[in-house]
This record gives sequence, C-alpha cells and structure tokens, in this order.
Amino acid sequence: MAKPISIEVWNPSGKYRVVSTKSMPGTRWIRLLTDNDCRLEICTKAKTILSVDDILALIGDRCDAVIGQLTEDWGEVLFSALKRAGGTAFSNMAVGYNNVDVEAANRNGIAVGNTPGVLTETTAELAASLSLAAARRIVEADQFMRAGLYEGWLPHLSGQTVGVIGAGRIGSAYARMMIEGFKMNLIYYDLYQATRLEKFVTAYGQFLKANGEQPVTWKRAATMEDVLREADVISLHPVLDKTTYHLINPERLAIMKKDAILVNASRGPVIDEVALVEHLKANPMFRVGLDVFEDEPYMKPGLADMKNAVVVPHIASASKWTREGMATLAALNVLGKIKGYPVWGNPNQVEPFLNESATPPPACPSIVNAKQLGW
Ligand code: GLV
Repeated sequence: MAKPISIEVWNPSGKYRVVSTKSMPGTRWIRLLTDNDCRLEICTKAKTILSVDDILALIGDRCDAVIGQLTEDWGEVLFSALKRAGGTAFSNMAVGYNNVDVEAANRNGIAVGNTPGVLTETTAELAASLSLAAARRIVEADQFMRAGLYEGWLPHLSGQTVGVIGAGRIGSAYARMMIEGFKMNLIYYDLYQATRLEKFVTAYGQFLKANGEQPVTWKRAATMEDVLREADVISLHPVLDKTTYHLINPERLAIMKKDAILVNASRGPVIDEVALVEHLKANPMFRVGLDVFEDEPYMKPGLADMKNAVVVPHIASASKWTREGMATLAALNVLGKIKGYPVWGNPNQVEPFLNESATPPPACPSIVNAKQLGW
C-alpha cells in the first residue's frame, strides 16, 4: 500500500469524498463542491508531477471522484483503484486528455471529464503571440536592447500565408486571429472540413474586396505536406495520439520554407524535438515558437541555446479567468456524475457554467466517454 500523502480538507463531514491531485486557481470550484455535500481533499504535496503511487495513496479505500492534471498517467492502475474505492468520475483539468487511457476508464465504468470551450481563445492568443514573437524576434530584440546593443533603426516585415494543422476549436480561433489581424491567406489541413472557418474567410475576403482591399483566401489542403510547403507561418493544433506522434519529423521539416515560422501550443511529442534542434541550427532564418516540449518539463539538448526559438513553459491556458474556469468545469464534471446529472449538450458553449453570479446548470459540462458508458 502506498504511503499517506499530505492533504488539505474542506467540509470534512461531506458525504461524497472528492480528491483533487493539485490545488487549482480560484475558490468557486471549492465552493461548488462543498455546497453540494462533498468532502474535498486537495493534495498539498510539494511535487510538480505526482506519480501513480502518489495518486493511489490519495484515492485510498473510499473515493467518489478525482480531479487530476495533464501531467498524470491515468490508466488501468488508477481507474481500477478508483472503481474499487467506489468512484465513478474523473476529470482532467485540461481540454487535452492524451494522459488518460479512456478505454481503461470505460472498462472500469469511470466517466472522464475535460475542460473545453473556456481556453479556446486564450490558447489561440498564445499561439498568435508566439507567431509574432518568433516573426518579429521579440525575445532576441529584448535581449539586444537590455545588452545595450541598440545603435540605430533598420527596416522590414509583412504577413503572407498562415498554415493550420488541426482546424478544430483552437486551430480555427488561431486562424481567425491571424487572418483578421494580419490579413493572411489560409491553408489548413484537417480530417474534417472546417466549414465555419471557411465561411468566415470567404465573408471576410468579400468584405475586404468591397472596401477596395486585397481579399484574403482559404484553401483546404489535401495533404499535410501541402501546408508545410506553402505556408509562411504554421501552427500545430492536432490532438496527440499514435497518429500524430512526431508528426513534424526531419522529412517534413525539410520541405518547409527555409524562413518559415513553426508554432506549437498543442502537445510536445507532436514535434521530433531533436530533429527540430538540428533544423534550427542548420537554418538560422527558420523560427519556432514553443509552448510545449517533448519531455516536459525539460527541453532537448541545444534548444535553449537557439536564438531562433522562442520558448515558454506550457502557459497557453494560463490566464486567471481561463484557469479558474477550467477548475470550475473539472469540479462540475465530477459533481455532475456524483449527482446523476446528464451531460451538457454542447461542450463548445460552456458559458452558463462560468457565470459566477448564477447557479450552474444541473449537468456535466464535458464527459468524453459518455457514449461509451451508455449515458
Ligand atoms: C492544456 O494544455 C490543456 O490541454 O488544457
């Protein structure tokens, strides 16, 4: 049996035992649980990434639900332990759930929640910030200035084609920002047609034309390679699974423009980071903006020395509003399951759950395996 682990307890006499593997931003999520007869135990262990053993100790012998983090490995061991403890719900405090073995959750009858909708724009904003920071070499310029090297003014830059790989919620929001903000043309690759995005670009193009400006255009690429070959700025927004692991590999890096900008705010292993470092070394005009890394929290050797890389520590969803909203959605996912509520119809529209001055709807905001559980 794993060792006991340090916790903070809220509403000790609550009927349902809910564990959160980390303290999360804000207090609304705590209130929502404790007002609904939950005893909440928040892990206070000062360790960034909890091991499976740490989490087993938190689950213990009786536990109704767990709220966990994207850094944790949620598979058969944890889901079967949660089931044995009488639990029925788990929620990631993240929209991505590549750290969760959903099949294992299904086998154990555990509902798996995630937190979409609340971080779409925030994450797209960071991808846009990285695109601009890389394009305009903001970090280098800042260092240049601080080092007292500024001696006088020099010219250059403008935008051309933005490429998006994975045009779902975040990819589409990013594309809109780059198209509206910089009048870039769009080329995207996705297994599904991004109809709303296409309609937006068409309408925006017509608007520009009617105003005597150069219209923007869109193209749905037949292959990912087409995007890599044609785009000047490329942002990656796929989910991470077996098919997208090392999607960006040496061969694909080689077909990109020598002065392209590559942005990744999805998941680190989508890029072969060792190959990327080699590519950055060989192509000084190629730039990259990274929010995520292959072996977080580490960077592959050499990346930190590359002036043509802008690197930030997985902060895409890190605004106060978004992170508090994610905590709320995660809490409501597990609370809803405990209470036997239905699943909310549209995970893209979660605003009613985020309104602090109203009681949230009696529903689970987003359960990814609801169908598989026959819900
Ligand atoms: C953050 O990376 C998330 O998936 O929510």
